[in-house]
Amino acid sequence: MIGRLNHVAIAVPDLAKATERYRDMLGATVTQPEDLPEHGVTVVFIRLPNTNVELLHPLGDKSPIAPFLAKNPSGGLHHVCYEVEDINTAVEFLLATDTMRVLNPKPKIGAHGKPVVFLHPKDNDGVLTELEQA
Ligand code: CO
Repeated sequence: MIGRLNHVAIAVPDLAKATERYRDMLGATVTQPEDLPEHGVTVVFIRLPNTNVELLHPLGDKSPIAPFLAKNPSGGLHHVCYEVEDINTAVEFLLATDTMRVLNPKPKIGAHGKPVVFLHPKDNDGVLTELEQA
């Protein structure tokens, strides 16, 4: 079912510092910070040849990643995102097998303008998992 690794998302307490580290120490291509108010985050993309890393920093007071950073003040792996051919088929399959909880069975539009769903971290070895329509 899952295809390409679309991105790995890391919550960071200091976006400028993290961006600088990836650019200057690790020699990666980084983007300018981008505010995504509808997702409650500011994001910097680390462009890699085979995938992307997204550095996430809370934006606004209702940011969905604020509780995560409160629990993990030095930052940490927030989620991984895999592409699927057909998001609705993937959801139907998961709901039918009842082994992994789908947090939003009705796909929502994700940070890249494509439908996404999230799977409960407790059902996938502690990793919040995003599925994105390819
Ligand atoms: Co994501």
